[in-house]
Amino acid sequence: MAGGFVSQTPGVRNYNYKLTPKVFITCFIGAFGGLIFGYDLGISGGVTSMEPFLKEFFPHVYKKMKSAHENEYCRFDSELLTLFTSSLYLAALVSSLFASTITRIFGRKWSMFLGGFTFFVGSAFNGFAQNIAMLLIGRILLGFGVGFANQSVPVYLSEMAPPNLRGAFNNGFQVAIIFGIVVATIINYFTAQMKGNIGWRISLGLACVPAMMIMFGALILPDTPNSLIERGFAEEAKEMLRSLRGTDEVEEEFQDLIDASEESKQVKHPWKNILLPRYRPQLIMTCAIPFFQQLTGINVITFYAPVLFQTLGFGSKASLLSAMVTGIIELLCTFVAVFTVDRFGRRVLFLQGGIQMLISQIAIGIMIGVKFGTVGTGNIGKTDANVIVALICIYVAGFAWSWGPLGWLVPSEISPLEIRSAAQAINVAVNMFFTFLVAQLFLTMLCHMKFGLFFFFAVFVFIMTIFIYLMLPETKNVPIEEMNRVWKAHWFWGTFIPDEAVGVSAAELQQKAV
Ligand code: BGC
Repeated sequence: MAGGFVSQTPGVRNYNYKLTPKVFITCFIGAFGGLIFGYDLGISGGVTSMEPFLKEFFPHVYKKMKSAHENEYCRFDSELLTLFTSSLYLAALVSSLFASTITRIFGRKWSMFLGGFTFFVGSAFNGFAQNIAMLLIGRILLGFGVGFANQSVPVYLSEMAPPNLRGAFNNGFQVAIIFGIVVATIINYFTAQMKGNIGWRISLGLACVPAMMIMFGALILPDTPNSLIERGFAEEAKEMLRSLRGTDEVEEEFQDLIDASEESKQVKHPWKNILLPRYRPQLIMTCAIPFFQQLTGINVITFYAPVLFQTLGFGSKASLLSAMVTGIIELLCTFVAVFTVDRFGRRVLFLQGGIQMLISQIAIGIMIGVKFGTVGTGNIGKTDANVIVALICIYVAGFAWSWGPLGWLVPSEISPLEIRSAAQAINVAVNMFFTFLVAQLFLTMLCHMKFGLFFFFAVFVFIMTIFIYLMLPETKNVPIEEMNRVWKAHWFWGTFIPDEAVGVSAAELQQKAV
């Protein structure tokens, strides 16, 4: 594939690369890192709706679920049950902060390896769990694994990819997440039909498969040129760049990496420095994007689709099947992002996806409101239930080509080398914190806010769409170590970036744009 491109930002260098098998295979294996997160996201919701699992560990939820004519909105409301799901995200939050140091000092691949390893141990604890303690310890280990992987993999992919295809390659992470979710839902569908405790044990224990994939993948993967230079292996980095880019003419990009690394050496404390005004745009975006990603409400669907569908009156088998369908739609629609993100850019996808989610959420809220009212009792007809499932699919599709992949891509590509690892750790930590909150609070919120919950998330989708429109500059095709120029040229963020960070003044950049 010819790799020429024209950058939109004035003063940004244009590299001319083709797609090589090496970069393709490396990023393909690197993207496995998303599998563990996805597998877990997909498995938890199904397992927590399996009767033998509830009977074994959460008998009071089981009893409540069985009691006839319980308020539909509150059928599954249990703090302990949600703690099972959400404990993982708190653990991931903590480990992502440690991961940033390992990623910076030892290289990206060792964080990936550690991620796979802890996830592997966690899967054993869960598969063989005899009591709640084992279950929670297992979840916490899985969480450590997810934190390490999510901190390192998006950065790894963004640094390996040629600038003109960075979006597509980085989106491989999201494809892997959704693939993990879909496989997990399919597994749940079958294990849910098994008698006794074996079903949920298989579901939880099979998490060891994606764990091994990322572990072995990390062992054979090379580290990124950026990280090699950062750790003092400039010659190896140049060789790596040549083989990744498929040409000996990598001088310009190599020089950019060296310059970025020189600059990053001035920065001794990435955690302190990220607070400096010159990194304000990255810091705000690194916090806002994961916050907004979670406030789309996507994980209400991801975790609780089977529960939600049961609330709508579907049987438990039909609920798992519907969850599988939404997962497959999400997977297919993520490819829309893969194929368009470097052509149309990040902003177009964010804005289009946002509007689509907004409209479908409002429609879902109205439908559920009309059918269940505020009392939460009543029955929903087959046709109406199908319309709701269709609306959920439209909503999921919108997320799949916007906030899903871009929520990982944009934070991984906007920061200069000296703060990149710290920024990515903040991204993961914020993401995990709000994933935790949604997981922990959703069932209680559904119980109290009822259909209003969908309007609640719709308000956030509205706000985030405006935010992107005003505050996020386009980053497609911009070499990762040249990103400062994009910020410098932005109407609002420009004043935060000192002239010496880009070698020109904002006025000059704007003049070049004319
Ligand atoms: C989000 C997750 C979500 C997943 C699947 C990811 O990008 O970070 O919270 O569950 O996509 O929808």
